[in-house]
Amino acid sequence: MASLSFIATTISSSSPLHRHHPRKALPSTTTRRFHTSCEQVANTTDTNVSDDNSSSILRMDRRNILLGGLGGGLYGAASLGLLGGGEPLAAIGAPITIPDLTKCHNATADNVGEVQCCPPYTDISTAIDFTPPSSKPLRVRKPAHLLSKDEVAKYKEAYRLMKALPEDDPRSFMQQANVHCQYCNGAYYQAGTTDTVLQVHYSWFFLPWHRLYLHFHERILGSLIGDDSFALPFWNWDSGLEGMKIPSVFTEDTSSPVYNEKRNLSHYPPAIIDFEYAWGDSPPSTDEEVKALIQKNLLQISKAYSESLTSPELFMGGVLRAGGTLNSPGSLETIHNGAHLWVGPDEAPHMDMGNFYSAGRDAMFYCHHSNVDRMWSIYRAMRGNKIEFDDSDWLDSTFVFVDENKQLVKCKVSDSLSTLQLRYIFEDVRHPWTDKGVRKKVLKAKKKSTSLDLVRCTEFGSTSKSLTNTIRVLASRPKKSRTKSEKEEAVEVLVVSGIQAPMNGPSRFDVYVSKLYGDDLAGPDLGELAGYFLELPHHLPSKGGETKTHTFDLKLGITNLLEDIDCEAAEKVVISLVPRFGEITVGGVGIQHLNTDTSSD
Ligand code: C2O
Repeated sequence: MASLSFIATTISSSSPLHRHHPRKALPSTTTRRFHTSCEQVANTTDTNVSDDNSSSILRMDRRNILLGGLGGGLYGAASLGLLGGGEPLAAIGAPITIPDLTKCHNATADNVGEVQCCPPYTDISTAIDFTPPSSKPLRVRKPAHLLSKDEVAKYKEAYRLMKALPEDDPRSFMQQANVHCQYCNGAYYQAGTTDTVLQVHYSWFFLPWHRLYLHFHERILGSLIGDDSFALPFWNWDSGLEGMKIPSVFTEDTSSPVYNEKRNLSHYPPAIIDFEYAWGDSPPSTDEEVKALIQKNLLQISKAYSESLTSPELFMGGVLRAGGTLNSPGSLETIHNGAHLWVGPDEAPHMDMGNFYSAGRDAMFYCHHSNVDRMWSIYRAMRGNKIEFDDSDWLDSTFVFVDENKQLVKCKVSDSLSTLQLRYIFEDVRHPWTDKGVRKKVLKAKKKSTSLDLVRCTEFGSTSKSLTNTIRVLASRPKKSRTKSEKEEAVEVLVVSGIQAPMNGPSRFDVYVSKLYGDDLAGPDLGELAGYFLELPHHLPSKGGETKTHTFDLKLGITNLLEDIDCEAAEKVVISLVPRFGEITVGGVGIQHLNTDTSSD
């Protein structure tokens, strides 16, 4: 238990009204018209619209946030009302299976067109079933910015050797990167279908698939340098100032095998990551701004956990069964997308890190994902090691990877659930986003609004709308003034449904929740940021190759947020959708309940 031995009892959840004041690029209410569902009705000057809540700590059953053993057996949760209150389960149901490798076809990527990223293997009959590497030494993944000189040297040497392998060797760097392209840019259709793309992002497969992908990548690197205990470092972007910089191993030496010139150079150290970055935003320049950005980042991470601890779908991504196409990314994936965007260059096509098909061509990708994987481990530990989805369509879904001996290996999601079983752990480092003070510091840095423009709003209605301007709508809550036990039974979820986003470019909009004034008036501030929708270019080709949009649902937990903005007793709230980039259409906005997986323990 060297890893993860932190105590997670004091996650700050959201607290007093946090009015989000983006630094730049967010269309302000003065520069962009509101959508016509809201009209301006008043204009006064003041100020502090009401926020005197005190900080609230995470409200959830203590047993769920105490640390559980990592290697222990999985909990057989009796009943996980995973979709309670949401849409019904897809009629199609079954685990995802390995696609027909012989039918791999060109993938498609933004501004690049078709790309050949199929693997050098097609014969699935040679594949063996995964067995845990139990006799191997334990590998300890460490923060990349804290590697010793020796560790840095080994790390670079491993990538040097990987890059030196012949291109058609499935262990070579390019082939490793291609694996990501295959499963993100539509090189395979789901088994048994001729046009349903196999996509490992935007759903409950995101974390397990990437964990397995990294596991084999790590094993290959280790075997190349003849070191079974070799571990991938992690980009510790959830820590403070030092961790939030691009680790120097990636930037200091342009001739190093882990260097990549296709990045945003203005984000090299000392710049720190901004998960809400949009192209063209200028980095913070004063010490104050840097501190505020660190706090904003920590807050976003803290919220991702606090709103979703009892509802894995919100953290991990939505349910996806064989034949399914609707995608609903979890809050960790969204944060992770922010890092991709921030590292990749501003210029289209944003290669390498900023464009999924090419992301694996930057060694930093695997280091970034090592931390994503760690964040899942932390989530798991905070939930007492309780399995996230006790659902065979998840657990039995199968993927194929190549190991260090060029052997094809079939792995199930259930093979990915214990890092100990995979023989690695993460070095225990502090995560300041669990500090109580995170919220308070953010509030301190917050400015007061100087105007009070009230706008009249209506509900979203049933017609989809294109998000060319900020849309502000009313949303009714299924129930107001919920009791503590009702909140334990179900979390409140803001659902933006039927999001049509272009596949050949990135897209993004932000979602805010605010108080209502009177019956139907929205205040001047957008309110509290509940989350955002952010997709990198991924371009899923349809049959015949024509470009299509792709439909997403965005589900954001707002149980704590509503308390924080003092709306628990409100029947309705105002929801604002603020476009940032990409041509997006939204089908609906509403608030639902989602049963927690503790509701029947
Ligand atoms: Cu497969 Cu960081 O994405």
